[in-house]
Amino acid sequence: MIKQQLARFHRLDLLVNATPLEKLERLSTWLGREVYVKRDDLTPLAMGGNKLRKLEYLAADALAQGADTLITAGAIQSNHVRQTAAIAAKLGLGCVALLENPIGTDDSNYLGNGNRLLLDLFDAKVELVDNLDNADQQLQALAERLRSNGKQPYLVPIGGSNALGALGYVRAGLELAEQIKDTGLHFAAVVLASGSAGTHSGLALALSEVLPELPVIGVTVSRTDEDQRPKVQGLTERTAELLGIQLPASFKVHLWDEYFAPRYGEPSAGTLAAVKLLASQEGLLLDPVYTGKAMAGLLDGIGRQRFDEGPILFLHTGGAPALFAYTASFA
Ligand SMILES: Cc1ncc(COP(=O)(O)O)c(C=O)c1O
Repeated sequence: MIKQQLARFHRLDLLVNATPLEKLERLSTWLGREVYVKRDDLTPLAMGGNKLRKLEYLAADALAQGADTLITAGAIQSNHVRQTAAIAAKLGLGCVALLENPIGTDDSNYLGNGNRLLLDLFDAKVELVDNLDNADQQLQALAERLRSNGKQPYLVPIGGSNALGALGYVRAGLELAEQIKDTGLHFAAVVLASGSAGTHSGLALALSEVLPELPVIGVTVSRTDEDQRPKVQGLTERTAELLGIQLPASFKVHLWDEYFAPRYGEPSAGTLAAVKLLASQEGLLLDPVYTGKAMAGLLDGIGRQRFDEGPILFLHTGGAPALFAYTASFA
């Protein structure tokens, strides 16, 4: 049902092949627990990451509407803004981004290296703002300004997380379900970072239909369970509505919110240790803002026996370019 409904939506055909599902052999031996990783860090644009899946739908919509400029917002080190700027470059569109400094740092690597460096290479225009507390209104005001200068902007929400963007992770969920079936394994859970929630919502919606027994656990990167739950629930409902389907009865929001401290964009010792562990055991690069926190949750969850029996599947959503902005954290 979900697959037929999804096929009605136009998307850019950039993700031709499924991203790999791999076993982390050395980590599994070290932990005494099998861990697999879905490699969405390897999506094929500008150092990869989860946003390409959302942008396949959003940028297709932008082109259909005759837009000439993508506008969006995020942190100075936003992976989302980097991928939006890259797709704009690839499609010959302009890109304007509102950027905030969520950790109030003056570290030159944070301000100019990593994802921020890449924005300049993609020719994105950047406007620094004090905060993005009213991001939708701030983006609307930017759109208005661009229109009065004769531009045709298309507004990509923070994280690409509206119902149309979340379709990218509905599609990813169907792709992952096929790969899981091919392994013949009974996984205990899927673990991923839950931020602006489009990844979590889309994936959980698809999997609740095709693998209803499999919990999808979002490790929050910026919010408590109480604050994140309505975001995930609401976006999933809007995504189901866009698709014209009912929320499957098995759909449930699972959140772990013990790992985002001290705050968004700032890694804890546990986050940094998770990044170092995966790099040293597997040659796999996580990031200090999203996947490091999600992996810290996965590792702690194993230690505290929070999972049912079976191998655990980690969704790697990318973000490694930000490592070069956080060199001080690893010093
Ligand atoms: C590397 C990485 N992982 C996870 C996420 C979270 O995804 P979402 O915003 O869809 O919750 C992001 C969002 O920016 C990200 O850049």
